[in-house]
Amino acid sequence: MSETALRIAQAGAANALELRGVSRHFGALVALSNVSITVRAGERRAVLGANGAGKTTLFNAITGDFPPTAGRIRFFGEDVTQLPAHERIRRGLRRTYQTSMLFKGLSVLDSLYLAARGVSRGRFSFVRQNERDPSLQAAREMLHAVHLDHLADTPVADLAHGQQRQLEVGMALAGAPRFILFDEPAAGLSPVERRELVQILRALPAHIGYIIIEHDLDVALRVVESVSVMHNGALFKEGTPDEIQNDADVQRIYLGGAHG
Ligand SMILES: Nc1ncnc2c1ncn2[C@@H]1O[C@H](COP(=O)(O)OP(=O)(O)O)[C@@H](O)[C@H]1O
Ligand SMILES: [Mg+2]
Repeated sequence: MSETALRIAQAGAANALELRGVSRHFGALVALSNVSITVRAGERRAVLGANGAGKTTLFNAITGDFPPTAGRIRFFGEDVTQLPAHERIRRGLRRTYQTSMLFKGLSVLDSLYLAARGVSRGRFSFVRQNERDPSLQAAREMLHAVHLDHLADTPVADLAHGQQRQLEVGMALAGAPRFILFDEPAAGLSPVERRELVQILRALPAHIGYIIIEHDLDVALRVVESVSVMHNGALFKEGTPDEIQNDADVQRIYLGGAHG
């Protein structure tokens, strides 16, 4: 089978992610311990857990930013465990970071434009060609998807915190994402900004699945259909939002420990 034919066959795979026995050590520290998770294509899942539970390390293992030290990761049926991060991006995996990675001096539209250029095959250039430039059209669609149309020409530095987080979600939509990892996009947002983020996430195309790390159950439980709870680097519990919300063990580790 040609590489393209193989890719198309894999695109039909029922599972977006299959993690089997994934671990990540940093020296003697076990940040992630023997995690096995299956996420269906199009599924939307929350990962909960106290500060230091291993949530961001889980994302780093999936994206290849810090590959696992043990275990296997499949993305739409393909074993990507050994692939560098950019190859996983090429296959439709996206992420946002817990701390902002934006260029403060760029405008909102230029940020989205560069994200679109970054994943397109064309030669890299800072100069927008013209209004028919596909990357510019893509940038305007992303702008609209994250409710920032009215701020296209505003420098990133002048955005409110919540608007910066919306922009980061927009940048994750560049190219043809098949699955997105959102690392605490609602952290530090006001109640109004949270509602806006919830609307944006709920309006994403149905075929795009995601995992969202989110402490606020009022946010998480409105945008996901399944929940994984992590504790001390391991998977602690999985269930529906209702099951997790009413789980005595989860309440104990949540109410007992500091969030972060
Ligand atoms: N790059 C790294 N180098 C060393 N230790 C790390 C690194 N990344 C994470 N850790 C450690 O792994 C553990 C889990 O961290 P992290 O995944 O960031 O937790 P969470 O996102 O759930 O708050 C913590 O003890 C953290 O200090
Ligand atoms: Mg984290």
